[in-house]
Formats: sequence, structure tokens, C-alpha cells
Amino acid sequence: MRKSYAGSKIIQKADMLRKHNLYPFFRAIEASDGSTVTISGKKQVMIGSNNYLGLTHHPEVQEAAIKAIEKYGTGCTGSRFLNGNLNLHEELEEKLARYLGHEQAIVFSTGMQTNLGTLSAICGPKDCMLFDSENHASILDASRLAFGTTFKFKHNDMDSLEEQLEANCSRFQRTIIVADGVFSMTGDILNLPKVIELAKKYDAFVYVDDAHGLGVMGNKGRGTMDHFGLADQVDFNMGTFSKSFASIGGVMSGTKENMDYVKHSARSFMFSASMPPSAVATVSACLDVIEKDDTIHENLWENVRFMREGFKEIGFYTYESKTPIIPIFIGDDLKAMQVTNYLMEQGVFCTPVITPAVPKGEALIRTSYMASHKKEDLQYVLDVFKRAKKEMEIPSIMH
Ligand SMILES: Cc1ncc(COP(=O)(O)O)c(C=O)c1O
Repeated sequence: MRKSYAGSKIIQKADMLRKHNLYPFFRAIEASDGSTVTISGKKQVMIGSNNYLGLTHHPEVQEAAIKAIEKYGTGCTGSRFLNGNLNLHEELEEKLARYLGHEQAIVFSTGMQTNLGTLSAICGPKDCMLFDSENHASILDASRLAFGTTFKFKHNDMDSLEEQLEANCSRFQRTIIVADGVFSMTGDILNLPKVIELAKKYDAFVYVDDAHGLGVMGNKGRGTMDHFGLADQVDFNMGTFSKSFASIGGVMSGTKENMDYVKHSARSFMFSASMPPSAVATVSACLDVIEKDDTIHENLWENVRFMREGFKEIGFYTYESKTPIIPIFIGDDLKAMQVTNYLMEQGVFCTPVITPAVPKGEALIRTSYMASHKKEDLQYVLDVFKRAKKEMEIPSIMH
């Protein structure tokens, strides 16, 4: 008899949460203006998205997407290799290369595909990758797909990275250090200067997944490598358009030579349909808007400062994050669900992060901020969190 999936641990857990009315996933959004959403007819302040620049609802961005649909239709119906390559894709790649300060950029259909395709292409059977233990799931999956060998180093721990380099890299043809630029759950920033110093010492390549840094960090959001003034030292820089760039898609950038290799060997690029015209035009319009409007980044960082100080004043432990991602330490998984539920009932949309995404006992609520959040909405969020802390006994320190 076939074994059913219903008895699996993951389904048991989901059922248990549903039974107690604590299931926090797949909430259907009925309407959105970016920084607020409507769910079951009720308005909620959105502090659970990655729309850092708030550009999903910018009039110029929306207009560009509509015009692209009118000119090119709704989809490309094929891979860039074959029938799915528009002049729009090539123009965007040139624009992105200039913006990032790299020789060449390639756009993929999602960020996940960018990591899967590039890493599996560049880490062959004689190569190895050294992998930060808190890297995103798409990098973990890419390491499973690649024929090379993977070694983990402790999160953002440069001694641990050097130990792994020392122990392993001489046995392989190529070594690639792979890490997020801004880590997605806790918002901490990669120690890129030290990574590059070690990469030079051990003759390794540097691969940065800057999904949460692109659009946010550095001058006009050029990313983590720009934040440190090290764009020319990063060999492979990955970004996604599903966060600051208000759409869907991904970008890989680096030297012409390396990008030409990726373009002709990344299977998720070659064997999957290209980004739709409206998405390409959206990203291009976001770049134009960022270029001419400094207030977007000014508002973002002002909102981040306001929330960081507000949470500190209330007494939450926020992991010293220096990015728009501000995690709130809760501890227990079930409590994180209960707090999320409480916040949701009070009109605040955010997401719990529980095991296995974080170690047991380190559950958190991931909150994140946008340039377009209104101060009164953010103050409302702080007031709700203050009540939650008192009523639900949320700890002030990590233990
Ligand atoms: C660090 C990181 N890398 C890659 C991805 C995948 O990006 P996308 O959503 O564009 O597939 C994400 C998305 O959550 C991410 O957070």
C-alpha cells in the first residue's frame, strides 16, 4: 500500500497549529497599498515584507509595467536562449552592470534560480564551496545540486572560515566562498572585508547573495559590496528583484568572462522561461526612480532608526541589526506563533521564524521596514508590541 503524506511530522505540526488557531502561513491578502494590506476585510500594517523601498505601488513603476505589457504582451513563453530574449532584458542587464559597478550582469527569472543555476555551474566536481551556516535555503539547495563539495563555516565567523580554507582548499581546483550579504532572518551584515582578505590569501572566489542588501545598502542601494567599497573584489554578486525592486527575477554580475560562462552553463537560465516584460520594465523603472529621488533612501533609514530606537526603549532584544530587518527575540516556537497571532488580531502583519529556520529556543518575529511606511502606522506598531510584551511576557534578553 502507498504510504500517505498525511502522517508526516510537518503535517502533524501544521494540523496542531490549525487546531489551536495559531497557523500563521498563507494569509490571503485582499488588497494592498504596499505598507498596509487588507486581510479578512481588516487593515493591517505590513511589517512582514521585503518591499524595502516601497516601490511596488510607485506610479512611475506601475506605469512602466503596464506599458511593457501593452508593447510586448504578458509573457515571453521561452528561454532567453531561444525565443524569450527581449531588447528589454539586454537593456536592463546593461543598466544593472553600470549600477553595480561590474562588467556584466545577467538576469534570471527568480533569485532562487540565480543561485541554483550559477552555483551549480561554477562549482564543478573538482571544486568546493565554503558556506556560511546561515545562508539562504536557495544556496543550500544549490550546494546539493552542484557536483562540487560543500564545507560549512560558523555564521559570519572569520576564524571558522579560515579553518575551513586551511583544511580544504588545497585539495580542490577552485574554492568559492559563498555567503549572504545581509542575512535574511537576523539582518546582520557579512564581514565582507575579512572574507575578501581571506579569499586573496587562499586564492578563492567570493560569491555574495545580496538579496536583502541590493536596493538597500550602499550608495543608492548598490548593495553590500558598495557599502564596503569592495564591488571590484566580489567575483559573483547575486541580487533579487523580489524585494527592493518590487517584482520578481534575479541578477548575477561579475566579469565578462565569468558571466559568459554562467550564461552558457547555468541550467536554470537555459532551461526556464525568461522574466516577463512587465517584471523587466518594473525593475528598470525602479532603478530610474532610485537614481533621481534621494528621499526614498532617506525615508527608509529614518523609519529604520525610529523602529530600532522604539523597540529598544520598550525593552526588546533586536540582535543589534543595522539593516531594515529588525528581528525581535521571542525564544519558544509556540510563543512566537502566539505573539504573531496577537499582533495579527491587533492589525500588525509580521512573520514568526521558528525551528528549523533558527536553532531551538531562538524563535523570533522578523519585522522589516519600508521607505513608504507612515510614522503614525509605525507608532501604532510600537504601541501594539508594547502591549504584547507586557501581556505575553516576552523576554528582554536572549537566553
Ligand atoms: C537571501 C536570499 N537569497 C535568495 C532568495 C530567493 O529569491 P527569490 O524570491 O527572488 O527567488 C531569497 C528570497 O527569499 C533570499 O532571502
